[in-house]
Amino acid sequence: MLIISRRLQSKKLIPNNIVLTGFMGTGKSTIGKDLAKKLEMEYVDTDAFIENRVNMTIKDIFEKYGEDYFRSTEKLIIEEVSHLKNKIIICGGGVVLNKDNVMNLRKNGTIILLKAQPMTIYERLKQDYSRPILVLDGKICLEKVEALLKQREEAYRSAAHVFIQTDGRQVDEISQQIIALLYEVKN
Ligand code: S3P
Repeated sequence: MLIISRRLQSKKLIPNNIVLTGFMGTGKSTIGKDLAKKLEMEYVDTDAFIENRVNMTIKDIFEKYGEDYFRSTEKLIIEEVSHLKNKIIICGGGVVLNKDNVMNLRKNGTIILLKAQPMTIYERLKQDYSRPILVLDGKICLEKVEALLKQREEAYRSAAHVFIQTDGRQVDEISQQIIALLYEVKN
């Protein structure tokens, strides 16, 4: 009997990158890491990549250099990671707002959009001040989440090959659904 490792199976069945997109707090990192384990694939987190490259936290980058600098660094990082193969790419929530980023990621990747209701996102992030985009007058408020989600909805939708609702669901269930969808997309 020929025994093929799961890593090799993944490579054959999922030669493309798996690109996880979606608003902050939709579970991209958690799901990405779970998929990496299940499929024995490596993952790249674009936010971590930026933090390593600049040697600062995202919060400090925003504070010291502003959003434009962050977005142009993010664009360079996306160009780099788009050349990779058979990786899980966990994107920051603003990545798909830039059309060049979407074009690059689509070259080698299947783009999965993780979705969640504004209240779910708010509940998950209300104590977390590491995302400057969401903090208004020192607070994270539901209205800000709702407004930003609405503003970005079309960009998220048009960039994605498939989308998955995450509210109230277990990580394992979501990952299994993504794996099933990837096989469908391939065949
Ligand atoms: C951002 C999302 C963050 C991070 C930065 C900006 C956004 O990533 O890239 O704070 O504009 O949506 P996560 O979605 O991983 O939190």
